Amino acid sequence: MGTPDRLHENQQGVELSAVEWLLDHFRAKETDRRRMVDELDVGPSDQVLDAGCGPGMWTRLFAEKVASGGGKVTGLDFASDILDYARASFDGDPLGSAVEFVRGDLHEVPFPPETFDLTFLGNCLCYIRDAYDVLEKHKKVTRSGGRMVSKEFDGSAMIFHPVSPVLTLKVVTAAAQALEENAASAWFDNFIGRRTYGMFRDLGLNDVWTRSYAIQKVAPLTEEAKRYIIGNATWYGRTAAPYLSEDERQEWAESFDPESERYVLDRDDFYFCMIETMTVGTV
Ligand SMILES: C[S@@+](CC[C@H](N)C(=O)[O-])C[C@H]1O[C@@H](n2cnc3c(N)ncnc32)[C@H](O)[C@@H]1O
Repeated sequence: MGTPDRLHENQQGVELSAVEWLLDHFRAKETDRRRMVDELDVGPSDQVLDAGCGPGMWTRLFAEKVASGGGKVTGLDFASDILDYARASFDGDPLGSAVEFVRGDLHEVPFPPETFDLTFLGNCLCYIRDAYDVLEKHKKVTRSGGRMVSKEFDGSAMIFHPVSPVLTLKVVTAAAQALEENAASAWFDNFIGRRTYGMFRDLGLNDVWTRSYAIQKVAPLTEEAKRYIIGNATWYGRTAAPYLSEDERQEWAESFDPESERYVLDRDDFYFCMIETMTVGTV
């Protein structure tokens, strides 16, 4: 099975994620994400669209819900090597017959109107400058009475204890500042989670609800949780760097460097927390 290691870029040049990091990310949060999918009460015959499916980890959770009842999950993504990985991950798997992967753009959504009972977008609206356009297109392919779901995150609440809260808040604020200042050339909405409720209401969806989940990872961490947290912290440090002092940059980097005495992830008191938000509306 191929595991491409290159980073993907969206049209604005924002770095998307390498497949390995997406897998670590998902696996580190799999229990939480299973709970989210359980809360959606997916029907066994449902037709589900997993838009921006990446390596197909959400696709699998949905397939587990529909495979026995004749339903189907369609994964849509524009990154062909990530789709190759997703397809290969179902080779020889009985769930494979309930799954299909299609290459395409979230702005085009290459399916007939009213195809899906449930349209799911997981961690991809954050990369989309015109999220309303993407949501409108997904609304069209969702059947009347069907549901749209957005699962995003909100980067305001980030805890990497025992890294100093003052440093953490500085890094989060500096990253927010850098993203805002670079928005014209490189779009990434690190605070999309708080916006999806209003967006779904603006779209005219019915029965809109939203729920936020505090995703915690505590010591002792699995190796995939460590890689996910290091990847996340590295992104924050790199994004925030122009607005941090040299000392702040160094303290942050060393806190997540296994070779450093400052390394926090092996400490008994390590506690990580961030917010994921799931918003649901009926078409
Ligand atoms: C952060 S990944 C999330 C993957 C998966 N949903 C998950 O949560 O594990 C974002 C995915 O959205 C895809 N993506 C971003 N913009 C897209 C677009 N305009 N059209 C299609 N796919 C897009 C990327 O290729 C990537 O696989």
